[in-house]
Amino acid sequence: MIKLWQPGVGNGSRMEKEAAVMKQAEWKEAVIYQVYPPSFKDGNGDGLGDLQGILSKLDYLAKLGVGIIWLGPVYQSPFADNGYDISDYKAIHTPYGTMEDLEKLIRELHKRNMKLMMDLVVNHTSDEHPWFVQARQSKGNPYRNYYIWKPPGPDGKEPNNWGSFTGESAWELDERTGEYYLRLFDRKQPDLNWEHAPLREEIYEIIRFWLSKGIDGFRLDAINMISKHPDFPDAPENARHPRGQDYFKNGPRIHEFLQEMYEKAFSLKPGLITVGETPTITMEQALQYTDPARKELSMALLMDMSAIGKDRMDPWRAVPWDTPALKKCISAWYEGVFQTGWYAVYLSNHDHPRLIPEWFGEGEERETAAKLIATLLHTIPGTPIVYQGEELGLTNARYPSIEDYRDYGTISYYRKQIQAGVPAEEALERVHQRSRDGARAPMRWEKGKLGGFTTGIPWIPMNDKDTEIDAESEMERPDSVFHYYRRLIELRKQEPVMVYGDFKLMMPEHEQLMVYTRTYGKNTWLVMLNFNRQQTSFRTELAEHSHCELKLLFGNRTGWREQASNQLGVADQESVPPQVRLADGCLQGSLKAYEAAVYRLV
Ligand code: GLC
Repeated sequence: MIKLWQPGVGNGSRMEKEAAVMKQAEWKEAVIYQVYPPSFKDGNGDGLGDLQGILSKLDYLAKLGVGIIWLGPVYQSPFADNGYDISDYKAIHTPYGTMEDLEKLIRELHKRNMKLMMDLVVNHTSDEHPWFVQARQSKGNPYRNYYIWKPPGPDGKEPNNWGSFTGESAWELDERTGEYYLRLFDRKQPDLNWEHAPLREEIYEIIRFWLSKGIDGFRLDAINMISKHPDFPDAPENARHPRGQDYFKNGPRIHEFLQEMYEKAFSLKPGLITVGETPTITMEQALQYTDPARKELSMALLMDMSAIGKDRMDPWRAVPWDTPALKKCISAWYEGVFQTGWYAVYLSNHDHPRLIPEWFGEGEERETAAKLIATLLHTIPGTPIVYQGEELGLTNARYPSIEDYRDYGTISYYRKQIQAGVPAEEALERVHQRSRDGARAPMRWEKGKLGGFTTGIPWIPMNDKDTEIDAESEMERPDSVFHYYRRLIELRKQEPVMVYGDFKLMMPEHEQLMVYTRTYGKNTWLVMLNFNRQQTSFRTELAEHSHCELKLLFGNRTGWREQASNQLGVADQESVPPQVRLADGCLQGSLKAYEAAVYRLV
């Protein structure tokens, strides 16, 4: 852990004391890396990523410097949702390998000082899970109550108007018993009934099973959906997508369930890392989930950043990047959660298109934009999560045909559009902009058409636009996106200001720039980011620091001098961009297209 009281840093000022009061934790200081198993590395040539593949890349991850690996679901699964549909919680998906492989992964990660965080999907199972196979047999089956069943509504149709994330009704009719079951995701992912105590006990037992294997944490899938409104009321017709979410997210018993899960399972391993996937929560709710005194989760995911660029009413419609909205959510979480609770931040994952090129520069601008994103991710409050390939600046795949897409949500959306008479080209354009498959194209490890991902036929096509990008080449080139990430990750281990520093935003309304300070003791960083494709000028007051000088630490256009010692020095003076000045209590100047620059105020 970072040593908070460094000699020579600060004199015990009020601010410093406040920072010191904040509880330190390894998972606040670490960087999390998301491995999406099907697309990371194939070890046996069948075209699908697997555990042997992951094992072969642990030195790469260690070199990058990340501390926690979030491993997407690797449990036995019919794979309707790439493993988020589990049919056996205690077995490894056969094409991924064996339990011995997983145990080896835990050992090998620990040898390299990394931790393993597994995905825990307990809002729903696969419809092929033995519990559901039993449950659907008859209304009186002992497993019936493990799931949520309702008779048809008075009109003989669905029990209410809730929608699923796929855009269809959230209810699926089961012919045999004439009742509907709830499924907030795919029809092959029936929701579990958390009201039923025996089901909860089974889940806690599964968690204990995994703890006994030596894992270090869980990322809890859709966890704020496990408690539903007991009356299942209809939602207003014009409610946000998916309809009914006010009744199935953050339900009345959610905290009771989490506290019980903590008591009966999580607490058995002190220091366990638990990250909740908790979409659409208020700051009060985020605090409730993560205030350590409440004994629920270690952190919530700040999911609002990945909603930027997406229409709130129609997830299939891309809208322009919105820098003020980005600033607003970063500030809100800092103000509302940072001191007492905690959260993890990310800009890319397996559920969203990659930011490049959908919102940021392609071609010559790609690397600069990728480093801009990296700077943002590592210098805002919260534990950063890097999604595989982001550290190389991989781009979003836009496959030429719908046949290349694999995600059920994408395919059903496309079909519906065609049925509604939308021209195929237009429907495909929507898919290009919004499908989550865009971020699921396989990793590129080395040069070549298949990028060293597999020797077989990849389960989803490679992104042909990225043939010039690969890990091996980037590791060789000191100014690559990979090394930019590596240095930021290294820096986080040395600079408490990146983890525990106070955050202060300037020019909140500025349309293109994001400028803020992080302060820890006497150490203040000034971060300047330009999300614009054009050079952008600015002028703002910085009275509080008017006596200070700007020392450039690093930036995406200025290079980064390697430091021999562990201390962060300053970038070469010649590379200091001359455009930024601090004088007479005013910060002014201009930033180049997609420029990121981080200064120390001395
Ligand atoms: C989460 C996962 C997503 C999955 C869904 C259902 O949102 O990130 O990939 O489809 O839950 O499990």
